Formats: sequence, structure tokens, C-alpha cells
Amino acid sequence: MAEDAPEEIMGLPGMLSLKERQMLFALGRDHYSGNGQIIDAGSFMGCSTSCLAAGVKAGQQAPEKQIHAYELGILPAPANGQTIIRKFGDIKYEQGKSFVPILKDTIKPWWGYIDLNVGDILQENWDGDHIEICFVDVCKTPELNAHVTRQFFPSIPVGGYLVNQDFFFDRLPYVKVTMGYLSEYFEWVGRVYTSSIWRCVKQVPQDVADYDPYLEKDPKCREYHEMTVYDDLGKDALFMLDLSLSYLTGEGLDELEGKHHEFIEHNATVWEGREGKRRDARFRIERARKLIAEGNI
Ligand SMILES: C[S@@+](CC[C@H](N)C(=O)[O-])C[C@H]1O[C@@H](n2cnc3c(N)ncnc32)[C@H](O)[C@@H]1O
Repeated sequence: MAEDAPEEIMGLPGMLSLKERQMLFALGRDHYSGNGQIIDAGSFMGCSTSCLAAGVKAGQQAPEKQIHAYELGILPAPANGQTIIRKFGDIKYEQGKSFVPILKDTIKPWWGYIDLNVGDILQENWDGDHIEICFVDVCKTPELNAHVTRQFFPSIPVGGYLVNQDFFFDRLPYVKVTMGYLSEYFEWVGRVYTSSIWRCVKQVPQDVADYDPYLEKDPKCREYHEMTVYDDLGKDALFMLDLSLSYLTGEGLDELEGKHHEFIEHNATVWEGREGKRRDARFRIERARKLIAEGNI
């Protein structure tokens, strides 16, 4: 972590917590040797890209377009034709419109460090060059998760870092299945907000990355998911992992409510009086009940 990360990255428009911005800055500054590449998969308005770039710059590495940023450039408009305007930092954005100009403006100060790829990452193929830091914030579907794993993970050398921003999240069970499946290749380093950080301890063979246990409906998926309950996780993280497991198996919500009763009650009080949509533990359980019943995980 870098408490001394520059103020300029703290106010950038984006979806990352301040601690995650510091973490990316620290990775770029302290854990990038300059001998490989950096991936930012899912840049949105350029916050994660800029945090990594600011770190690489602070670490005195020369700008060589070593940060490969991938972004579709648009958040879909709602199907019902409603207008949704969201605020990210000082920026107002209407869903359904391109945010590429905002992204380009955000990353402008670090342009020499960044190779920006606008478009569908599913159409991108990695050239096999070593990836020292792989930041992933795009695995919102099983197909994206499988693609990112297949394309990037075999290029992470021993000692390289992998960060998945969506790990301690109630949904996306396939992300956990992948990391359980790959547990002999990555050791867990720790958690920052919803991000999970691993270090590569053995390079992932391409044929191992090519196999996706979730898409193949491997009977070991549950076992792989359960392997990601790492030591010293907080109550909120354990709750999220159990809920994600319920999305995977389609069961266990009643048991989960009993097991996490205290956390659920406490979490409701934390959300009292907060502005905006309520996203407490109770909301997440009810959402899981609905989506699992609809078969929509
Ligand atoms: C959670 S946001 C990333 C947040 C960002 N890392 C930040 O620092 O604010 C996920 C991003 O993935 C992008 N995305 C989703 N599907 C994609 C695809 N198929 N190809 C490229 N980008 C995609 C979305 O447009 C969205 O901006």
C-alpha cells in the first residue's frame, strides 16, 4: 500500500476505492522492474490505468507504452429506454454514450506509458510477452473470465502479480472457481477492499489456462470455489464468498443466513442513513434468491 500516493490519482473518475488506487500505485512503483508488461483489463474512465502509470513513473521507469489498457468504451443504456446519468468524481456520464473522450482525457498526463485498446477484449489476443502486473476488472461474464485467463495468465512469470478487482463480491462465482483451479500457480498475498492480490509461484501452462472448469461444468467447481476461503479474511469477505458459492450451487441461502446472522444484522446498521441505493447484506441475499430462482447468475 502507498499512503503517499499522489493526490492527483485520488480524484480521478472511476470505480475504485482510494485504497485500491494506492495499491495499484504501489504495485507500479515498487513491484515493476521494467522488464515486462502491465495489463489493465477494464479501464473504464482510466482510473486504474492512471494509478498504475503514476506508480511506474514514480518508480523511475521510462515511458514505453508498457501498460496495455483494454476498454469497450460504453456502458449499455437500459433496455427500457430510461435515461440514466451517473456521477464519477466530477464527471457526469449518460449510459449508452461513449466515454472514450473522458478516458483519453484522464490518462493524458501518462500517455507515454499507455497503450490504449478500445473495443471488445474478447477480440484481443496477447502476444505472449511477460506480464509483471495483471490487473483484471472486466470478468463480468464467464466468457470474459475464461478469455482473460487464457490470454494473459500463462504470460505471468514467477513473482508476477495478479489482481482481480471483483473477488470479494457476492456474484461472479466463476472468478473464484478459476483461482481455486489455479491454486498451485498463485499464492494469495492479500485483500484491498474487493480486490484480491496473488503472486505467481509457478507459471501457468497454456493448456491449463485453456481449460475453463466453469464453462466445462467440471464437477470440481464447488471444491475449487471453496479453496478460495483464504486465512484471515474479514466477516464481510467470508459472507461474500459464501453468497458467491450459493450462486454457483443454487442452494444454501437459508444456512448462509444462519451462519452469517450477526454480520447481516451489523451490516444493516452500517447502511442506516447512507445515501443512494441500499446494498447491504440483506439486499444481497434477497437479490441472490431472486436471481438464482430465475437461473440468472
Ligand atoms: C468495473 S469497470 C472498470 C473500472 C476501472 N478499472 C476503474 O478504474 O474505474 C469494468 C469495465 O469493463 C468494461 N468492459 C466490459 N466488457 C468489456 C469487453 N468485452 N471488452 C472491454 N471492456 C469491457 C466496461 O465497459 C467497464 O468500463
